[in-house]
Amino acid sequence: MTRMMSASELRRYLLALFMLGGILLCYLFWNQPSTPGMGASSYTNNNAQKVYIPYLTKSDLRWSWECEGQRCVRKEVGKDDRHTSLATCSMLCGSTQLWPQPTGPVTLGSRSVVFNHQQFQLDTMVSEPARSFIMYSFAAFNSNVVNLVQNVDYTKSKSDIRKFVVKISVFDAKVVRLLLTTDESYKLVVRPNEDNDLVAMITAQNVFGARHALESLSQLIWWAEFENGGMLKTLRGASVQDAPKFPYRGLMVDTARNFMPVDNLKRVLVGMAANKLNVFHWHVSDSQSFPLELPNVPQLAKYGSYRPDLVYTVEQVKELVEFANLRGIRVVIEVDMPAHAGNGWTWGPSEGLGDLAVCVNLQPWSLYCGEPPCGQLNPDNPNVYDVLEKIFKDLLEMTGESEIFHMGGDEVNLECWAQYRNRNNTSSYVDLNEVWGNFTKEALKRLEKANGGKRPKHVVVWSSNLTKRPYSVKYFDKNSIVVQSWGGSEWTETPELVAGGYNVIISHVDAWYLDCGYGRWREHGEAACDPYRTWQTVYRHQPWNSDVYYRKQVLGGEACLWTEQVDEKSLDTRLWPRAAAFAERVWSDPPVDRSSMSINEDVYTRLSTHRDRLISRGLAAEALWPQWCSQNPGMCL
Ligand SMILES: *[C@@H]1O[C@H](CO)[C@@H](O)[C@H](O)[C@H]1NC(C)=O
Ligand SMILES: *[C@@H]1O[C@H](CO)[C@@H](O)[C@H](O)[C@H]1NC(C)=O
Ligand SMILES: *[C@@H]1O[C@H](CO)[C@@H](O)[C@H](O)[C@H]1NC(C)=O
Ligand SMILES: *[C@@H]1O[C@H](CO)[C@@H](O)[C@H](O)[C@H]1NC(C)=O
Repeated sequence: MTRMMSASELRRYLLALFMLGGILLCYLFWNQPSTPGMGASSYTNNNAQKVYIPYLTKSDLRWSWECEGQRCVRKEVGKDDRHTSLATCSMLCGSTQLWPQPTGPVTLGSRSVVFNHQQFQLDTMVSEPARSFIMYSFAAFNSNVVNLVQNVDYTKSKSDIRKFVVKISVFDAKVVRLLLTTDESYKLVVRPNEDNDLVAMITAQNVFGARHALESLSQLIWWAEFENGGMLKTLRGASVQDAPKFPYRGLMVDTARNFMPVDNLKRVLVGMAANKLNVFHWHVSDSQSFPLELPNVPQLAKYGSYRPDLVYTVEQVKELVEFANLRGIRVVIEVDMPAHAGNGWTWGPSEGLGDLAVCVNLQPWSLYCGEPPCGQLNPDNPNVYDVLEKIFKDLLEMTGESEIFHMGGDEVNLECWAQYRNRNNTSSYVDLNEVWGNFTKEALKRLEKANGGKRPKHVVVWSSNLTKRPYSVKYFDKNSIVVQSWGGSEWTETPELVAGGYNVIISHVDAWYLDCGYGRWREHGEAACDPYRTWQTVYRHQPWNSDVYYRKQVLGGEACLWTEQVDEKSLDTRLWPRAAAFAERVWSDPPVDRSSMSINEDVYTRLSTHRDRLISRGLAAEALWPQWCSQNPGMCL
């Protein structure tokens, strides 16, 4: 049926069509890959709600800041006084506002220049594959700067320079995947040239150092709030030399207790990049759920996800790995085993493979596991190892990560196995630790098979009774096994592992577990890990001494976020800024005064600046203190 449209209907129709076209155009514009060939790593940041501050006239402003004795002091601004924003004052007053603090010499000029982001120009002679990486890093840098802007019209104000040239050279253009031996150092020099361009010169061994340099450069740029209605500023001169103290700087996030859509994990990576963290340890599965789609074992996600759509697809994982790599981060996926495995593993009997997991959802849970629901892989069923080999193959393929492989291995409950074996008339009168050891041995063998016949250089396991003598020496080769030591910091566990010759990654529960302190989530059992770890606790924790041999065996540290009481709604606030405090510990390892355990004023001030920076990048980082304290540096200690 057709009919004529009235004039007003036609107008409405055309308007709708026009708007639709507009939306489509915007969509196409925003989805333009910024770098050819790197469009895969698109990212929608739902949290980044840009708030433009209304234009205020000079007479609206009450505060201005002045640098007095290396500290910014808030002053009432007179009618004719020049207004200096807190950011401008902080950047020019005594300290760097860099986070983490560089470990090499830093010289910062005392003058600032006004510019706008349209003046950026990338100048690089680097060849592929580094070139594409650098282009992408530069685009990310550019967008970090644009995110500082709070006044759309700011480009109209006068710039002090002609262009802002970013010159990048890397020594080895072939390196585009991170290894523990990758040199992440960089040198950044900012100075004007005779044409009145500001030139930021970045030199690094490879793209990873260059990326860190761009991160540091972005931190030397700030939004001068209310100065001339707001403008971008940077230092007229700066020189930074920097390199991390530890090669492994990890952050673990658990996606099994509560599922989090993949964009949330991208936000974690954005935060990690801002803090120069470099390993995203993804604890993807646990006894509660198995949300990871694996091509060779699709049953795991089919039976193990909370809902058919609450899964990470292969494409999503690959995209995440790419997204991470371009931010200087590698992704290590852990499918925990033999404990912390239950839901997702129940399809064995229906496919004629027997019980792949035992004690699954068994009650009363407290007899068979540390938290409900229970579940552990069945070490006596040979089919389990065939499944493991397929899992390993898929993980290696999806992440492309074969230098570091995480095998899980925490909190095995021997009583679960004992009960099952009793019921099945298998003798329990053996040391079940040996059964666990044999499981691990066979699993390692299958890992080697999945990895083309050789063991990944570093296989990580959580610390446990099995990583202690006498079992450790029997089952774990110290040349390839790295132990993630998560016991209490006062325990003898870490020093014993180091003395035993193992390389370690430190995740001491009483310092670097970010999930703790939110109370009990169940009626029975202890509130596993109260109290809350404050950022100061995280920051102060320095679980190594100055002994160079000891430190050589500490590959680094990892902060952990288990998610029994976290999902996407509180992910950011749980992580930030405490994970930033952790990042400075493993990048810079600043000295700790062991008698007073006090933290310098400079750390408070820089972290406060950095928290605002994380907010500008779309992370819902938690407030450190009342805003009065940010406005009055040094007055809240
Ligand atoms: C338990 O017993 C059944 C039947 O005898 C057998 O098929 C299965 O393999 C046994 N499981 C284990 C783990 O020994
Ligand atoms: C275990 O042994 C008992 C007694 O010999 C027998 O009745 C039972 O069927 C056995 N169970 C299994 C699973 O083999
Ligand atoms: C562990 O494996 C060894 C070698 O295959 C075997 O001799 C031993 O009995 C096994 N131990 C247990 C407790 O299953
Ligand atoms: C480790 O072994 C000790 C001594 O045998 C035991 O008391 C403890 O419960 C074991 N720990 C775990 C987590 O199983």
